[in-house]
Amino acid sequence: MSNFPKDFLWGGAIACSQADGAFNEGGKGLSTQDCRYFDSNWDFNTIYKKNAYVSDMKTDDFKKALACKDDKDYPFRRGIDFYHEYPNDIKLFKELGLKIFRTSICWSRIFPNGDDDSPNEEGLRYYDTLFQTLKENNIKIFATIMHYDIPVNLVIKYGGWKNRKLIELFERYVEVLFTRYKDIVDYWLPFNEINAARFAHWDGISVIAEEEEHLDQTVFQSIHHQFIANAKAVALSKKLIGKNNIGAMVAAFTIYPGTCKPEDVMQTLTDQRYSNYFYFDVMARGYYPSYMRPLFEKLNVHIQMEKGDEELLRNNTVDFLSFSYYASQIATVDEDFEITTGNMTGAVYANPYLKKSDFGWSLDNMGLRITLNKLYDRYQLPLFVAENGLGAFDKFENETVRDTYRIEYLKKHVEAMSDAINDGVHLIGYTMWGIIDIVSCGPLTMDKRYGVIYVDRDNEGKGTNKRYKKDSFAWYQKCIASNGKEI
Ligand code: BG6
Repeated sequence: MSNFPKDFLWGGAIACSQADGAFNEGGKGLSTQDCRYFDSNWDFNTIYKKNAYVSDMKTDDFKKALACKDDKDYPFRRGIDFYHEYPNDIKLFKELGLKIFRTSICWSRIFPNGDDDSPNEEGLRYYDTLFQTLKENNIKIFATIMHYDIPVNLVIKYGGWKNRKLIELFERYVEVLFTRYKDIVDYWLPFNEINAARFAHWDGISVIAEEEEHLDQTVFQSIHHQFIANAKAVALSKKLIGKNNIGAMVAAFTIYPGTCKPEDVMQTLTDQRYSNYFYFDVMARGYYPSYMRPLFEKLNVHIQMEKGDEELLRNNTVDFLSFSYYASQIATVDEDFEITTGNMTGAVYANPYLKKSDFGWSLDNMGLRITLNKLYDRYQLPLFVAENGLGAFDKFENETVRDTYRIEYLKKHVEAMSDAINDGVHLIGYTMWGIIDIVSCGPLTMDKRYGVIYVDRDNEGKGTNKRYKKDSFAWYQKCIASNGKEI
């Protein structure tokens, strides 16, 4: 018998910058993700090892991107053209039985420059119809307000999130969204993976790292601004929506000690705090935890708080917690441990007990159960798995993909959620990443595919862009229809 709650939210997730395309249509301004460069002559190592999340935007590359008006070397500018294709894609989502769909709203469609006097009505109308179409198909909406992309003008004029001005501009953007979509959107996330600032400076906080004199200071000050922006969004949701449907989202780095040596165990606790708990603690408990003090001292970081910041954080904590979960990691004080390409943080220590994906990410379904238990133990708030899935090289043959490896991966992760529910965790939903093939975020390729729906488009943007069901489509359809029982 299935132990998933009756109203469990089985879903799928994407992000606007990786899917929409149409970068210069509908009055949209250029976004920071539209500026990430990809050279189709790069080899596997360059793409998947060097061009990972950790690679930063360079001043010259940013200038070149601003001057370039086409999408040839900028895959995010074309995505999978979800902007035009969404009516057909939603038909497939309905056939799949999705209960909820997570996507992000593109700030530069709503405010092309981020600081415009008034919002772009055409951008708002796009989301009116996208959201209505989802609702007509009985699919709930999980909207991310910022998933790594902001209008480029906010970098040119203000320097990205290091500037406190962005809080005010973000608040204005959020107010427009809440006013317009409060009755149609079911769940809100102000920030995708708010901990990204530390491992992906461009994606997380839109700063050009090589221009920063004291990068750690910039990073933590920017994170502070995002915490305040998040608290302001929570405050606005109380005032304008009143449904307790706003959450936090962190890239979950579940960390195991490399050995049972007490030093490794302590290192694990420290890494876990710095990479994950810090963010959840501020947004769920409402204050900066004392364990951050030694790190700030070591890095010579001094957070500049304004009067009222602490109170704002304390009074505006989130209603639920969500996270992306792809892989676990290892902490050790022993530097001879084997290294793997890890997940979005680049190289990490390899776990000898786990197999790896095509891209070196450790495959660890038990890690999902552990993550869910740890978070529920600590916060006692409803949990939502906002991202989880397998990026793989798919072989497209006879109009389908026989992706038994993806089915295997998903099955094990569904079992892990079921076990966590048995353990007593309050889990409300699961939005599989990315339900349809999209441009991958770290390497910017199409051939790192996650979907149960195949999109015929390659790394250079060539192909028919037609959609096909993979074998995993029927598997997920059955899983949803049986509420997680038939897997
Ligand atoms: C998450 C991001 O970190 O990982 C997504 O929120 C991203 O945007 C996903 O796509 C998987 O990473 P990648 O690099 O394989 O696309």
